[in-house]
Amino acid sequence: MKVIGINGSPRKGWNTETLVKKALEGAASMGADTELIQLYDEPIKGCMECYACKRKGNKTGGVCAIHDNLRPVLEKAFAADAVIIGSPNFFGYPSGMIRSFLERFLYPLASYQLENGENVRILGQRIIPAGIIFTMNSNKHFYGAMNYGDTLGATRQNLEYVLGYAEQYNSFNTIQFSDYSKMDANMFDPAEKLHQHETQFPVDEQKCFEMGIRLVKKASE
Ligand SMILES: Cc1cc2nc3c(=O)[nH]c(=O)nc-3n(C[C@H](O)[C@H](O)[C@H](O)COP(=O)(O)O)c2cc1C
Repeated sequence: MKVIGINGSPRKGWNTETLVKKALEGAASMGADTELIQLYDEPIKGCMECYACKRKGNKTGGVCAIHDNLRPVLEKAFAADAVIIGSPNFFGYPSGMIRSFLERFLYPLASYQLENGENVRILGQRIIPAGIIFTMNSNKHFYGAMNYGDTLGATRQNLEYVLGYAEQYNSFNTIQFSDYSKMDANMFDPAEKLHQHETQFPVDEQKCFEMGIRLVKKASE
């Protein structure tokens, strides 16, 4: 059983990567072989609309036809038994690199073909259980006021539609700066952020660990 985790934050060692690692630890506790991929290590391109994956008789086999630096990551995601994706909330959407990755991971697996009125699944019977973890500055109230659930939830829904199963976890009110006193950011209360980090973030870690366990169970069904 192979589970890959993708850190879609430009920052290493911060909130998103920490939670993706926790989810991978959960998967590893179930005996899965895990690997963490840093998506921001190299600049990557999104879908180029070449439509090679939609051409009749194409041999792309569900993996994006473009052979560039993202190709090895796409091959790993395609071959994985489960995928855990972490992203910061950037203006209500996943980070740019995650969006580029998802365009090229999901689109070749999304079929426009009907057979007996049913959408043909490129993956056949196989599902690739996916977890999407979002970290963000906002609290639950602001999340609701900004309708982030619509846009971030749509990412989860697309993962589910194409891969067959997807879960979402939101980590709210994350610590953004190591020293708030050095930043122009007085709308935040550093003491409240620290309190949140010490009380809620460990809960988020545990929830992500449990997500990793559930995804492995789902992949073994
Ligand atoms: C470009 C950018 C846009 C952001 N937009 C939002 C936003 O719309 N809502 C929000 O709650 N947080 C927003 N944030 C905050 C990040 O989502 C938050 O700090 C996140 O936890 C960062 O992840 P990291 O610690 O793993 O790098 C934004 C941060 C940046 C840099």
